[in-house]
Amino acid sequence: MLADPALRADPYPLLAQLREASPLSLMDGALVVTGRHRDLAAILRHQNASSERQRSMVAPSGVPTGALSFLSLDPPDHTRLRRLVSSAFTPRVIAALRPRVTEVVDALFARVAEQGRMDVVDDLAYPLPVQIISEMLGVPREDDEQFRVWSGLLARALDPQFADPDPQRMAGAETARDEFDRYFSRLIAQRRAHPREDLLSLLVHAESEGDKLTESELLATCVLLLVAGHETTTNLIANAVLALLRNPDQLDALRARPELVEGCTEETLRYDAPVQLTTRVARGPLPVGDLELPEGGVVLMLIAAANRDPDVFDDPDRFDITRKPGGHLAFAAGIHFCLGAGLARLESAVVLDAFARRIVAPRLLGPVEYKANFTLRGPARLDVGFDGVTT
Ligand code: HEM
Repeated sequence: MLADPALRADPYPLLAQLREASPLSLMDGALVVTGRHRDLAAILRHQNASSERQRSMVAPSGVPTGALSFLSLDPPDHTRLRRLVSSAFTPRVIAALRPRVTEVVDALFARVAEQGRMDVVDDLAYPLPVQIISEMLGVPREDDEQFRVWSGLLARALDPQFADPDPQRMAGAETARDEFDRYFSRLIAQRRAHPREDLLSLLVHAESEGDKLTESELLATCVLLLVAGHETTTNLIANAVLALLRNPDQLDALRARPELVEGCTEETLRYDAPVQLTTRVARGPLPVGDLELPEGGVVLMLIAAANRDPDVFDDPDRFDITRKPGGHLAFAAGIHFCLGAGLARLESAVVLDAFARRIVAPRLLGPVEYKANFTLRGPARLDVGFDGVTT
């Protein structure tokens, strides 16, 4: 149902129906769907809610095979691996990236300034996060385009497979994963010989310390950081620009009060979640509202529906950047709370501030096309015309 491409532009009426009907028991109780905020908030923090999707008795998970990243692991492995990279994502490290993020945004604006139009996805929302995370990891710039292709293939494989297993899609993801692994193995060998001040060297160092991190865990972590770090942020930035252009009063408010820029990011995360859903598998009895999932059962959590739950948010279908922030589940909650949330917020704030201040008379050109996947949902193209770019 949710996989229907016709729904990609506006899944929210269906999501509202599913939320009202939640929790919905399917497949003789082995699969439960919920879009209620209170259910998600509880499940994401429940100790029987496992991220190890291979425990599922329902269907093979959408995640490609190979070593699993810590996104798909439970403690103690999750704790060990997450701790190794978390020092690269502290608030202080992220805040220090602001000048570089600003520089990249300025350069991207300069490229389109003369054209009087841009595709917000291709010209802005995609290149920024891929460049920043690649620089953090230490990936050479000339390989950015190749990453775009691999990451697109891997991201498509994140869509759950229950309803519609697609062998071609999975094969594409596995090939991308193999190529990614080969590429990173070469970079890792280089860093072993010549360490630098980058995230990859930090991980290679942890590997060399003994049993902290195996080479296949190291590879899985690199893939996770690249994939998790840009499809998602691309969607956030494109969704925010789209919402501002569709709600000109909100763009005016942001221009008049630049301090609303963080509120604008939070409201976009709530209103149009870049990651629309996630899953957990029961590793013991797992309550979902008034139901209980048996061991191996799967719960499909509709983040995008929970973020518009009227029990938590007033007038939830309205885009309002002055809303009191907090409460949305766009970055999940509990031990898997998004590690890159601070980075995504920073990139979004820099872009939206620059967009509001510098793009003169922006307007949407033509209809918005969406990418095929519904988990990481966002525009494939977003053509915007303007009268100029100020300095
Ligand atoms: C708007 C942008 C982003 C959104 C909406 C987002 C959303 C999420 C969500 C919902 C999860 C939890 C998934 C689950 O447990 O089921 C997650 C986990 C994660 N995210 Fe993000 N993310 C974003 C940007 C980033 C960035 C920029 C990075 C890193 C560069 C990143 C790295 C991660 C990692 C490493 C995890 C796994 C955390 C763990 O399992 O402990 N994300 N993200």
